[in-house]
Amino acid sequence: MANLYALGVGEVDTDFQRVLIDRETLQRRIAEMGAQISHDYQGKTIVLVGILKGAVMFLADLARQITVPSEFDFMAVSSYGQSSVSTGVVRIIKDLDHTIEGKDVLVVEDIIDTGLTLAYLREVLLARRPNSLRVCCLLDKPGRRKVAVPVDYRGFEIPDEFVVGYGLDYREMYRNLGEIYVLSPHVYKT
Ligand code: IMP
Ligand code: MG
Repeated sequence: MANLYALGVGEVDTDFQRVLIDRETLQRRIAEMGAQISHDYQGKTIVLVGILKGAVMFLADLARQITVPSEFDFMAVSSYGQSSVSTGVVRIIKDLDHTIEGKDVLVVEDIIDTGLTLAYLREVLLARRPNSLRVCCLLDKPGRRKVAVPVDYRGFEIPDEFVVGYGLDYREMYRNLGEIYVLSPHVYKT
């Protein structure tokens, strides 16, 4: 395994094919998203619902770009079956701490792939009667979609490649990286 802590942007490392989105590009886009969200939620208080663990970095940076009052809450979900294949059967590992009834909820997700996780989450959250429910994702792989899910705020559309970093993991690794990388296929073949 490569020494991740010695890794800098632009350096060649065998675990990664390439940097897909660098720090500056990420932060610039997140600032734009925060400004748009602040504009859209004028006069309201947003409940930011981060989906653990992948959305942690994104939520932390996005929240600091939001100028309307906000609360944080978190959910952790896990899909049954193989780790790399989404089945659509989702298990809630950690539920929200607070009720969202009558609240303006913004789900903050790291990446939408098949859309199955988000489709399930939307159903669960809508049944709790929030005043509004919107979805914000950093990354979107539209080419992999199995179910249509409405996405209100989208950071970047990316190609169908497995990415890590900035909260995203492969077997819990690489979340701490400050950029988004394309993982080399040899890593998940070992
Ligand atoms: P979906 O249900 O297929 O949309 O799966 C979404 C979840 O799968 C995300 O929240 C991620 O945890 C994970 N995921 C999907 N694609 C990637 C990827 O390229 N890298 C890391 N995790 C991913
Ligand atoms: Mg994961």
